[in-house]
Amino acid sequence: MTKRVLITGGAGFIGSNFVHHWCKNHEGRAVVLDILGYAGNKENLAGLEGQDRFRLVKGDICDSQLVAALLAEEEIDTVIHFAAESHVDRSILGPAAFVQTNVVGTFTLLEAFRDRWQTQGKPADYRFLHVSTDEVYGSLEADGPAFTETTPYAPNSPYSASKAGSDHLARAYFHTYGMPTLITNCSNNYGPYQFPEKLIPLMCLNILLGKPLPVYGDGQNVRDWLHVSDHCAAIDGVLHQANPGDVYNIGGNNQVKNIDIVHQLCDLMGELAGDLPQPPRELITFVTDRPGHDRRYAMDIAKIQRELGWSPAYDFATGLRQTVEWYLNHRDWWQPLLSDEYKGYYDRLYGDR
Ligand code: NAD
Ligand code: TYD
Repeated sequence: MTKRVLITGGAGFIGSNFVHHWCKNHEGRAVVLDILGYAGNKENLAGLEGQDRFRLVKGDICDSQLVAALLAEEEIDTVIHFAAESHVDRSILGPAAFVQTNVVGTFTLLEAFRDRWQTQGKPADYRFLHVSTDEVYGSLEADGPAFTETTPYAPNSPYSASKAGSDHLARAYFHTYGMPTLITNCSNNYGPYQFPEKLIPLMCLNILLGKPLPVYGDGQNVRDWLHVSDHCAAIDGVLHQANPGDVYNIGGNNQVKNIDIVHQLCDLMGELAGDLPQPPRELITFVTDRPGHDRRYAMDIAKIQRELGWSPAYDFATGLRQTVEWYLNHRDWWQPLLSDEYKGYYDRLYGDR
């Protein structure tokens, strides 16, 4: 059956990549609900506005009246929930917004969807897919085994704690009400449309602008990087193949130290960017570590590989090169984002360290 989906946070990095993926691969109505905050950008959805099947609604997931009205008016049967405050550093500076959007916002959506699902007679094909992170599992030792779906939660930042809270609510709605929720926990994404305060785009832009490349601590922290297209394909697979109540880890089988990524980006930019203000590696600056900085994340993806047949398709060298090329070819996308709010955030970040 053709689905009528509500995609929250669909103007952000992963959400917008998913909306493009969805509209390319599926029929049916696609409604985006996004507050269009600093990380939400209409430009990420360019080319879709004007299509009958697509609608962008500017609004807050914490607004219960708006959410209920939208679910009813658009006859939504599927929610894919990306909307969140998503940046660990911002959560350290101001955790309140993270509790509000990530916990209260997710609760508001779950309640509205429960009401709709119940009043429609609990249709078996309704789904609420909650998109979450590997950060809920806490931090791994340098050589310990990767996170599995049964690793106990141990979040260390206000961001990951708020995501953990929202995961628990999604889980509880399945166990308590039988509501068909699904949860995906994914590792670090990279690719087009990522807001330039996250590691990879930040380094690319700072190299272009001749600004310092701030590497936190000793640069030996490890993340498991996945191309955003692979994440979108995995979510699609979970939505269509998983059983209600299921949880899947998603990752790239691709553990890389931060300093190694920064070196790779310096070399790619040196090769692809033309004249630069300064040799990129000279810009590397080790700065005071992030408080509570998780040492290592790594995802065991055996379950999704075995049960749903999904595996990451991108290799990191190719994906990183394409991402660098994308930022080089889309100055008109990122230049307007370097706003006063963006600069103010950096003043606060480094003022506090
Ligand atoms: P993002 O910050 O780029 O996008 C988040 C979007 O949500 C933005 O468009 C923003 O405007 C919107 N939003 C924020 N508050 C809102 C509110 N109250 N109401 C409506 N919309 C609101 O984040 P992202 O990197 O695309 O992450 C998307 C989801 O994926 C998040 O739930 C995040 O926790 C999860 N995730 C991200 C990564 C990653 O590496 N980026 C990895 C795993 C999971
Ligand atoms: P980030 O992109 O913020 O993702 P997350 O904290 O969710 O993993 O950061 C990725 C890694 O890079 C993380 O270990 C922190 C580090 N980092 C830096 O060293 N310098 C930076 O300027 C940023 C933004 C991140």
